[in-house]
Formats: sequence, structure tokens, C-alpha cells
Amino acid sequence: MKLVRSNVDPVREKFAAARKELSAALIEREDEVDLVLTALVANEHVLLVGPPGCGKSLLLDSVLSWTGGTKFSILLTKFTSVEEVMGPVSLSALKADKYLRVTTGKLPEADYAYCDEVFKASSAILNTLLRVLNERTYDVGDGVARKVPLKLCLAASNEWASPDTGKELAALSDRFLLRKSVSPIRSQAGRQKLLWTRDHAPKLSTTVSPAEVEEARRAALSLPWSSEAKEAMETVLKELAKEGVQPGDRRQFKTVGVVQAFAYLCGADEVLPEHLEVAQHCLWDSPDGDQPQKAAQVIARVANPVGMRVTQLLLEVEQVLVAADVRNLSDAAKAAAKLAEIDRQMSSLKGNGRVEKARLYLKEQLKKLKLASIEAV
Ligand SMILES: Nc1ncnc2c1ncn2[C@@H]1O[C@H](COP(=O)(O)OP(=O)(O)OP(=O)(O)O)[C@@H](O)[C@H]1O
Ligand SMILES: [Mg+2]
Repeated sequence: MKLVRSNVDPVREKFAAARKELSAALIEREDEVDLVLTALVANEHVLLVGPPGCGKSLLLDSVLSWTGGTKFSILLTKFTSVEEVMGPVSLSALKADKYLRVTTGKLPEADYAYCDEVFKASSAILNTLLRVLNERTYDVGDGVARKVPLKLCLAASNEWASPDTGKELAALSDRFLLRKSVSPIRSQAGRQKLLWTRDHAPKLSTTVSPAEVEEARRAALSLPWSSEAKEAMETVLKELAKEGVQPGDRRQFKTVGVVQAFAYLCGADEVLPEHLEVAQHCLWDSPDGDQPQKAAQVIARVANPVGMRVTQLLLEVEQVLVAADVRNLSDAAKAAAKLAEIDRQMSSLKGNGRVEKARLYLKEQLKKLKLASIEAV
């Protein structure tokens, strides 16, 4: 099969291990883990938006603890000063009538950055951030634009910025090529794991150096696109345009690299249509007007990625479970039949470890449902 790796690549093995270990510890965060690791390989910034306490910091901190290199983390508030992000003004330079910043330990010297509550930042910070994120340059004060080493900025927020919240925020939001809403835990089993496991911090067996991340980036960029995947990408863009979703040219162009990075993460030798799954987090402009949902639907329809189908089927499982009244025998039987039908659909999906995991979960739920209805009788 095409997805099998042809030869062993130690850096890829590390990514695979981290992917597995992060997903094992974080509940229902497989997509987010994939998103952040893909962003790391692609060297593109990522933004997670979700309610308080849904594991955003836990994931982003864990990924940063996995990477070597220089890191910079900050929780932004409207009172955070530019000095705290970019470094204080040099006093000795001031004495010589020069205005320079000392950037040691601050964002301009970081390989990896984590900005929590990114949209809370003041206007002055937003403007500097825009430049650092987009052009990856910074002027310490002498008028010279220096390249910053920044490879990846991870950001989190409790809400989306939309055109209504101001142009600056919308512009900053656009700097994050990968953006995703994070939902609270949905499944029963997930909730039980959340409640009854006392430590959710992932145990990572490896670390990855900036040089290795660079190796991964190059390897990903060299993965060829299959003609089917190319065609699917073009069809997705056309279909999205019909639905009124028209991501900008920069976004479209950069998405190609992101999909290659995801194919690399999946251990593939070439980009296949199913790797377009990750593009659902890139190919929309504004969170308004259901754009992210439209992107997901169109990609699922055109490229039929297994992961997206599994997520959708699992949602259906939860809906069946919530609606079922186990004390009513015919109700329970109907629910069991629906679950069996969902399992049948899952069994036809291939080429993704998530299918097996989802089917196991489904089987467990079916067993519980039957037991509960027997007990009720
Ligand atoms: N999906 C999850 N998997 C494992 N643990 C979780 C999950 N969601 C929440 N937790 C637990 O809740 C704690 C709080 O999560 P975390 O601080 O990462 O939330 P957050 O999304 O960053 O919230 P905030 O928006 O308030 O910063 C975690 O340290 C973890 O113990
Ligand atoms: Mg947090």
C-alpha cells in the first residue's frame, strides 16, 4: 500500500512517536495534535480557539517541551507592554542617543513562541506581532530589518477575531495559516478518562532539535503530489468558491506545503487526496458564515478523508447514545441497530489507525447499552 514507509527515517519516527504519545494522553485531541505537529513540520503558525480548560495549553506546552531550541511563552493581556514581548530599551544605547532594544530571551530571539490569549494584545503589540509572524523580521530600533529565527508561533484564544472585532485582529488572525476550534470532550469514555485520571500530561519519550525539524520540513517539501491529490485540491478550491468561501492566494499557496507536511506526518511517500484533510483548517478566510464547516464538508466530499468520516461517525454515535432511553426496550433496540449500522459504515473505511480505535469504542458502547437495558428490565 502507498501509505507504508519505504525506509526508516529516524526523524519521522520521532514525529510518529510524539504523535502517538500526545494523542494517547490528551483526550479527543487527535486532530489538534496532528494540526500542531503538521504546523511544526510546515513552519507555519497555528491558532487554537476554544473555551477555557479544554486542553489548549496542555497540548501547546507539551509540544514546546518536545522541541529543543529557544522558546518564548507569554500570556497576553491588554496591559502587556511591547517591552515584555520584544525586550526592553537598552539604557547604554540610550546614553549614546540611540534607541535599541535588548531582545535577549524575548520573541525576536525565539525559535518557537507560544502566545496565549493572543487577541487580548494591545494595538502596539499586534502591529509588531504582525510583522514578526508574517515577514519574520524585526527592527531592534536602528532601522535594519533583521531576520528572526522564529519557525512556529503557537497561539490560543477563547474566542475568534472577526471583522467586527476590528481590522487589526482580523489581520493577525490571518497570519495563522492553521486555525481550529477546540470543542470540549464529547464522548462518555473521554469524560470518564478526564475525571478519573489524575495526570493528563503526555509522557514524551523523545525530543526533537531545530535541525531535525528542518530536516523534516525539507523531507516533507520533497514529497511529490499524486495527480489525484492535485486534482482533488483544485476541485476543492472550485467547490469552495461556489459556496462563497474564497481563501486568499497566499493561503491557497501555503496550504500546498501544509498538506505535504501532513502527508509526511502520516508516513506517506507521496501526497494523496486523503491528506487534504488538514487543509480544512487552512482554506477559509473568516470563522463567520460557517466557512470552516463548509471547508470541512467540501474536502470530505471531494477528497473523502477517512479521519473526517470517523469524526463525523463518532459524533453520530454520541447523538444516538444521548437520545437512547435504555429503560425502553424498543428504544434501546433501535439505538443498538443504529450503532451497528454506524459500525458497518466504519468497517468500510481503511488506511487510518483511528478507524480501529473508533470501532473498539463503538463496540464497548454497544455492550454497555445492552447491559444497561437488560438491567433496566
Ligand atoms: N482533552 C483533554 N485531555 C486531557 N486533559 C484535559 C483535556 N481538557 C482539559 N484537560 C485537563 O484540564 C486542564 C486544563 O486545561 P488547559 O489549561 O490546557 O486548558 P486551556 O484550554 O488552555 O484553558 P484556558 O483557555 O483557560 O487557558 C489540563 O491541564 C488537563 O488536566
Ligand atoms: Mg490555556
